[in-house]
Parts: sequence; C-alpha cells; structure tokens
Amino acid sequence: MSERSRNLPRRSCLSVPGSSERFLEKAPSIPADMSFLDLEDSVAPLEKEAARGKVVKAIRELPWDDRVLCVRVNAWDTKWTYQDVIEVVGGAGERLDEIMLPKVQSAADVIAMDLLLTQVEKNFGLPIGHIGIEAQIESTIGLINVEEICASSKRLETIVFGPADFAASMEMPVLTGGVQIPTYPGDHFHYVFSKILMAGRAYGLQVIDGPYLKIRDIEGLNDYCQRTANLGYDGKWALHPDQVTEINKIYSPTQEQFDRANAILDAYKEATEGDRKGAVMFGDEMIDEASRKMAIKFVSRGERAGLKRNN
Ligand code: GLV
Ligand code: MG
Repeated sequence: MSERSRNLPRRSCLSVPGSSERFLEKAPSIPADMSFLDLEDSVAPLEKEAARGKVVKAIRELPWDDRVLCVRVNAWDTKWTYQDVIEVVGGAGERLDEIMLPKVQSAADVIAMDLLLTQVEKNFGLPIGHIGIEAQIESTIGLINVEEICASSKRLETIVFGPADFAASMEMPVLTGGVQIPTYPGDHFHYVFSKILMAGRAYGLQVIDGPYLKIRDIEGLNDYCQRTANLGYDGKWALHPDQVTEINKIYSPTQEQFDRANAILDAYKEATEGDRKGAVMFGDEMIDEASRKMAIKFVSRGERAGLKRNN
C-alpha cells in the first residue's frame, strides 16, 4: 500500500480517459479527491497502447496537487495488463499512488498484481510496496469472492463497486447500470452494497461506489449517492466536473454532525478520564464506547473535508 494515499479522502473519484490529452490536461483543475487515468473501458482497443505514454506524461508533467493519483489498467483477461503496469508504473515515478485493477474475480488476481508490482518497483528503483491497489468488484464471481479479495494483499487500499459491468454480469433486465429501477420495490443493489462494505471494512479498506452514468441528471445522482453515503461508503466515482461538486458534498458530514461528533468525544473523554469506563449521559442520550467509535468517523471525515469546529 502507498503510505501517502491510504488514508487520504476519496469522496469523489474522477474518471479520466487516458487516450484524451484534452481531458488529461483538464483533470488537475477539477477538485476531485482522487483522479484515475483510465486505460480500460473508456479507451478504444486501437488507442490502448498509445494511451500508456499519454498517461505517463500527464502524471509527470501536470500539477496534481496532493490528491490520490491512480491508473486503471486493463483486466487480466486481456492482452494488455502486464505491459500497462510495466510502462505506466515504470515511467510515472513516485507521484503515482496506485493501480486500479478492474473485473477482479478472486484473491489470485490481486496477488498476481501485487507480485508484478514488486518486480516493476525493483526494476525501476521505486520503494518496494509503494504502489497501492484498488480492486473493482463488478462480476457475480467477484462478489461471491469479495471477502478473500479484500484479505488478499497489503497493497489494497480500496474496494470499488462497478455497477455497469455488474448489472451485465447478473444479466439484469436494464440498459443502464447503476441507476434507479423505478419498477423495483426497493434498492436492487442493497445486498451488493452491504456485502462489499462489510468485506472492505473487515480488512480496513476504503469502500467506493462506482459511476452514475446519467451525467446530466444531478437529482438522480443525489438520490443514488444517498444510498451508499447513508450506509457508510467513503465516496463515489465521478464522470463529469458537475458530479464532483455534488459527490463531495454528499460524502462529507454536515457542520452539525461534525460539531455534535466533536462534542460527544469531548464529553466521553471527560467522563471516562483515568480508568473510569462505561456509559455516560450526553444531553438526554446515553453514550458509551460505541458512540465514541461512531463519532470518530464523523470527525475524521469532517477534517478531511476541511470542516472546522463551531463549538
Ligand atoms: C465500472 O467500471 C462499472 O462497470 O460500473
Ligand atoms: Mg467496469
């Protein structure tokens, strides 16, 4: 795992097609927490090889501030993966934080990437273990194996749901993945969201939701973000700058939540100073060690979003 990026915020994760110099040049000015330069499905097969060099140049020459910087390589079932890694990791230098591996099916897929990264790091003089991995779960077999996948490598930083490929893998009767299905009574992905979240948290990973494909439908995006934000996901992909603004807002705590969480921590600390432990009163509510753990998450997320205490 990359020491630098593991705990950085990933509320908004902007997808940037690696074949487009225009989109690559624009990306650093879009205030996403994380940008990933794509070599996979947003790049046409004939452009895949040329895109590697464009991505390396963009990483080395553009002003990326301190956001998480990632490249999505092609999946292991193509002919491109190993050369993607050698050219991009070898050429990009230390600013590249991580590689995203799409269509992960089993722990072996991640272990293979981990081993390849170690060789490339050795050959190109990078610190061993520098490059982190983001694993995309976007097939039925990937979801079935998500627990072993999350446990498979110290390089893993996040687990990411890919709703479009997943809908295709499930043979769902939809033509757009990752949007509401109005005729379904409930959230058709609730089980999937919860299963991925539990597996990711069990192994200390950040957990990210994938793209919302209707890029002009900000209201629909907002509704969709609420589902994973309310479950506790850390962030969601963005395909357009307007989506970044909305997503950053939804995956940050409100000022009120941030202030209340800080006040809970203060009250709990004061009441349990020394060896006194157990439940204490906070206003008309009883708080205990579990309340402290919940509050800590709001505080760390709020701090990452730049909030300052009002109380
Ligand atoms: C993303 O890669 C998706 O398939 O949704
Ligand atoms: Mg996909």
